Amino acid sequence: MKKILCIASLCSNLFSQVSYTNQIQPIFNTNCTSCHVGGGAATLDLTSYDGVMSGGVSGLSIISGDNENSELYIRIILPEGTAGSMPPNDPLSQEEIDLIGDWINEGANNLAIKDSFLPQNFTLEQNYPNPFNPSTTILYNLSNDELVSFEIFNLNGKKVRTLVNEYQNSGPKKVIWNADNNHGRQVPAGIYLYSIVAGNVKQTKKMLLVK
Ligand code: HEC
Repeated sequence: MKKILCIASLCSNLFSQVSYTNQIQPIFNTNCTSCHVGGGAATLDLTSYDGVMSGGVSGLSIISGDNENSELYIRIILPEGTAGSMPPNDPLSQEEIDLIGDWINEGANNLAIKDSFLPQNFTLEQNYPNPFNPSTTILYNLSNDELVSFEIFNLNGKKVRTLVNEYQNSGPKKVIWNADNNHGRQVPAGIYLYSIVAGNVKQTKKMLLVK
């Protein structure tokens, strides 16, 4: 019993993954779905994960891995009384805002409680150096032995380089990208996305190649 209590109270600090089902949807249910229900005055449907991810009149509300460019996050951090701030009258607490921000930056996955109670120590670090030229290093950590795919995309979503596509053992890993594509040619300067899929975890981050 003692052990279970300890796990429950520590879990939000120890395990990085926010649970959509148990932490995020309840915030929407309490603060948003009175208006944001399919067919309601607000077109964005916040009653389910699929509704949240399919967006509203301005397009996608969630950009996975990037809370600062996510319409939903932008709206909830606007000061109360500012046009467009959400909810219009009764702002979320800082804690709720941070939780939603973390959930988006962790990849906006649809995780239920059983996932958040797993000893998740999966991490994907920001590349360094960044901006970079001619090469950059990215560290990640796998919580399980898993089929891992690590790919680089340009901003048009086109895959430029596959760095890893294999089963890997749990533990810390390192990849280096030399700004080359799958044909061994150098790619132009610009923003690139690196994306890892490890089992059912997916996470994406941005990096900047300068010339
Ligand atoms: C009192 C009603 C009401 C509540 C409560 C409310 N909203 Fe809204 N919201 C609206 C209306 C009306 C719009 C404008 C119509 C639209 O964009 O769908 C809107 C627009 C939005 C948009 C922009 C959608 C788009 O595509 O342009 C987002 C994002 C949003 N709300 C998020 C939230 C979140 C998150 C909550 C809860 C934390 C929330 N809202 C609570 C009424 C509400």
